[in-house]
Amino acid sequence: MPLSIKVFIISALLLSALLHGDETKGKKVFETYCWGCHHQTAVAFGPPFAQIASRRSADEIRAMITDPEAVSKTFGYKRNAMPKLQLKESELQAITEYILSYKPKGD
Ligand code: HEC
Repeated sequence: MPLSIKVFIISALLLSALLHGDETKGKKVFETYCWGCHHQTAVAFGPPFAQIASRRSADEIRAMITDPEAVSKTFGYKRNAMPKLQLKESELQAITEYILSYKPKGD
């Protein structure tokens, strides 16, 4: 196989890994830190991602993860039951996009 074709195939593989990286990462963060209390569309201990995505902005979601005690009050919860989670900036970004990907269509 000519070198140029090999280079083309390798770049295409890298590009697709890059493009799908965030989605996979968001799912991983979800499974590691959130799954016990949140599900994508069904109510668990906390509200489902579909419901969160339909009423909160990216900034609100990030704020809630970073400081649930303060933010749950502004969201109207009487008692805060979500623990503070220490996520890296890249994990925060990935999980926020993952949650917002559940925003119901036409909302
Ligand atoms: C121990 C259980 C628990 C874990 C783990 C947890 N949550 Fe929560 N979460 C809750 C509960 C309960 C609420 C409802 C608000 C409250 O109790 O403070 C909530 C609320 C939220 C809200 C605001 C909901 C709204 O009103 O729109 C967001 C956003 C959220 N969680 C995101 C996450 C993300 C992202 C993770 C993982 C990184 C996570 N939570 C992990 C229990 C949890």
